[in-house]
Formats: sequence, C-alpha cells, structure tokens
Amino acid sequence: MRKLFVAGNWKMNLDCEGGCHLAETLKQQVGDVSDVDIAVCPPAVYLKPICDVLNGSNIAVGGQNMHTESSGAFTGEVSGPMLLDVGCDYVIIGHSERRHVFGETDDFIAEKVSKALKDGIKPIVCVGETIEQREAGKMKEVVCRQVESALKSVDAEAMDSVTIAYEPVWAIGTGHTATPDQAEEVHAIIRSLLADLFDNGVAETTVIQYGGSVKPANATELLGQKNVDGALVGGASLTAENFIPIIEAAQKLS
Ligand code: PGA
Repeated sequence: MRKLFVAGNWKMNLDCEGGCHLAETLKQQVGDVSDVDIAVCPPAVYLKPICDVLNGSNIAVGGQNMHTESSGAFTGEVSGPMLLDVGCDYVIIGHSERRHVFGETDDFIAEKVSKALKDGIKPIVCVGETIEQREAGKMKEVVCRQVESALKSVDAEAMDSVTIAYEPVWAIGTGHTATPDQAEEVHAIIRSLLADLFDNGVAETTVIQYGGSVKPANATELLGQKNVDGALVGGASLTAENFIPIIEAAQKLS
C-alpha cells in the first residue's frame, strides 16, 4: 500500500520566528509520526533554521523551487546542491504559481525534475488545469501533457523518488476545493498514464497528492479516495491548528 504523504507549502508566508515556532510545534506534536510521510516547504531564506528545528524528527523539509544549474550567474535563484546542503529532502517543482506567475514552461520544469533527481532531491511535481481548460473539456489533455513532459527524462527506477501533486489551478487558494469525485477522477487518469509511460509497478507505487484548498474539514473525504495518496497543503499548512488535523486525518486512513 502507498504511504500517505502530507506536505505543507508555506509559499511566501511567515517570518523566521513564526516559521521556527510552527516547526517546533509540529515537531512536538507529530514529529514521531511514522505511518504518514510529512514535509514542510518554507521560503528559501528560512530553510536552514527550519531544518535545524526539525532535525531528529520524522518531518522532512523541502524547497519550493530550484534552478537547473548547480551554481553560476543566476541572480535570485537557488540550486539543488544548495537545498541539499541545508538539509532538504524534497523540492516542489512546477507549482502553478511558478507556471502562471513566473512563466515556467513544461520543458524548463522537465529539466528541473531531472536535475533534482540527479542531485538526490525528491521532486514533488505539480500539475493541474485552469478553470478555462476544464470548462473547455481539456482537463485530461492538459494534465496528461504536463505529467508526460515533466517525466520525459525520468526512468522507472527513479520514479521511486518522485511525488506527483494534482492541483487544479481553480482550487488553489480559492476555497473551492475539487470534490472527492473530481479529484479521484484525475488521480486515476494520472495513474493510468504512469502505467503507459512506465509500467504497472510504477503506477501502483507512485504517490499522487491532491492540492487546492485542502483543510481539516475536507481532508478525510479527499484522502479517503482510492487514488489520492496525500495532500499538498497551502493556506492550511500555516498554522498547527489546521495542519495537524490534516496529518491526523491521514493517519486514521493509514
Ligand atoms: P491552498 O494551496 O491549499 O492554499 O489552496 C495549495 C498549493 O498551492 O499548493
């Protein structure tokens, strides 16, 4: 059975003191959890202090983005080796805000996924359609194109280290979460695509998170879907009061 994976994407929120305090609370309350994988993804400048706080717990830390090069003249960027250096295990790649606000293309995202794996960091690869694409009947086409492109240089063995996050753009930060049926439909589509791109083993073992307005009130139903293996949580990951019940919902289903 796939292990549920709950990750918090803090985006550009919290300050150093607030982030460390949240990490400390998580460590005390869910730091020993082993039946669910847990990660937090703070802003780059807080990665080191948060890694230090969470050291020795079961809560992993991830970056929110990385560049395709290890070092060089790329002002403002952070590299995979830098993420590793401060203690990160994961990196979010291809989040819809990176795609839509910062213009990241499918090709650039594919290069980042490949580089993360080369560097030994586990990518959380985000995909998802806009409301216009969904209403035009293009959800499947868009999501499959994004998944296929992001994984084009990844071989079956490396898929062990890859998490996919289905995040419909219309559900991110809007409070309009996908219904459990809508999420399950897309997750099943992605899993069947993985069987085509790789094999049934990869399809069965790859963790596919749902993201988009996940909160304590809807976590159990969403995570209870057959093909939903966890959550990538934005707004509700910013307080222990909201994030911990989502982890506990995952534990109850494990
Ligand atoms: P949200 O964000 O939970 O605030 O909708 C999810 C995400 O963007 O990863």
